[in-house]
Amino acid sequence: MAEDKEVENSTVAIPVGIKIGSQHTVIVTSDGEFVTHTCIREVENPITGEKEYVIGDEAIELFGDDVNYMLRGGFPGSEEEAELLKAFLLRLVKEYDIPENSYVTYAVPSIESEVCVNLLKKVIAQLPVGWVGKEMWNDSFLGALAFPEGMEMLNKTFLVINLGSSTTEVVAVRRGEIVYSLVTGAISGDSVDRKIRNEIQNETRGAVNIDITTAREFKERYANLKNWEKVQETVHLFEKGKYSFRIDECIIKPVNEYIEDVADFVAMQFLPELAERNFSVYRQIMKRDFILIGGMAEIPGLAEKLEAVLRDRLGVGISIKVPEKPSTASARGAYTISKLRVENK
Ligand SMILES: Nc1ncnc2c1ncn2[C@@H]1O[C@H](COP(=O)(O)OP(=O)(O)OP(=O)(O)O)[C@@H](O)[C@H]1O
Ligand SMILES: [Mg+2]
Repeated sequence: MAEDKEVENSTVAIPVGIKIGSQHTVIVTSDGEFVTHTCIREVENPITGEKEYVIGDEAIELFGDDVNYMLRGGFPGSEEEAELLKAFLLRLVKEYDIPENSYVTYAVPSIESEVCVNLLKKVIAQLPVGWVGKEMWNDSFLGALAFPEGMEMLNKTFLVINLGSSTTEVVAVRRGEIVYSLVTGAISGDSVDRKIRNEIQNETRGAVNIDITTAREFKERYANLKNWEKVQETVHLFEKGKYSFRIDECIIKPVNEYIEDVADFVAMQFLPELAERNFSVYRQIMKRDFILIGGMAEIPGLAEKLEAVLRDRLGVGISIKVPEKPSTASARGAYTISKLRVENK
């Protein structure tokens, strides 16, 4: 009997959620969450001379800035980038033992370009996973399914602000449908990293030039609007001797500017445009909490600060709520959908 059961179980599809972002790819299965950087580096096997790939966190560890992030706004922009994404995902699904016998829901950003969407779809079709079924949803929307209400969010109308590495996306959702969305590449986690690098350069009068990966690591480690700690770094400069500077000050300024920019984007652009297009949805959204997801929402105190700036811009009291681990929320939402599909099969 027990054997029969095992056989039966092994034919049941495995539910999987995959979020593909420009910076982070997240896989969620019943075993947990796996996060890695969406990057790849081509290397030559020193013995055979064959082309090989090192991917994700391992590639960063070995090659630092010298790796290829193949996506912009969560999508490949050319056949070449699509090929790299395919190589990356093939390695990833193998590494995490995702079987062919799986149901996979993909979390992807919204985008206008059909070319980019088709490139991504082609890559997904070539992966040896999701043979029981696969589907694609907007990742900002899926982030909302990560709240304890789960699928109940499908009946609701709400706004999601998604703070990514290469883009900021705002979407208005009504009963699972994206009523209106806006994406900008002008406000992003990456641009904060570039500003941090410049601040450090200015602060040290050009003596300290860090790479972008280091700037991002500083941000991820020290950016904190709740408990602001003084962080001092000392470098030994040629001829000038020991020189100390405040990293925290070089981080806080770009982060605060970023929050102002996000608030402007939501209050001055998204909401007025939404009100013009669909006043009823606009009114419903203004009565509810705004949802904040994406990696930059991990910065302690950022949500509270954004809430205060938005209240100021809008002249009305709004609240922001953040799901647990906002950087991986969309992948958990995607997993929820796959699980539901498998259970209903
Ligand atoms: N703990 C953290 N503290 C501060 N910043 C963080 C933290 N974790 C991630 N980030 C920042 O969040 C950004 C990445 O967010 P996310 O993983 O949502 O991006 P993505 O979805 O891969 O990119 P995109 O949406 O542009 O395709 C990066 O700028 C990263 O440095
Ligand atoms: Mg994203």
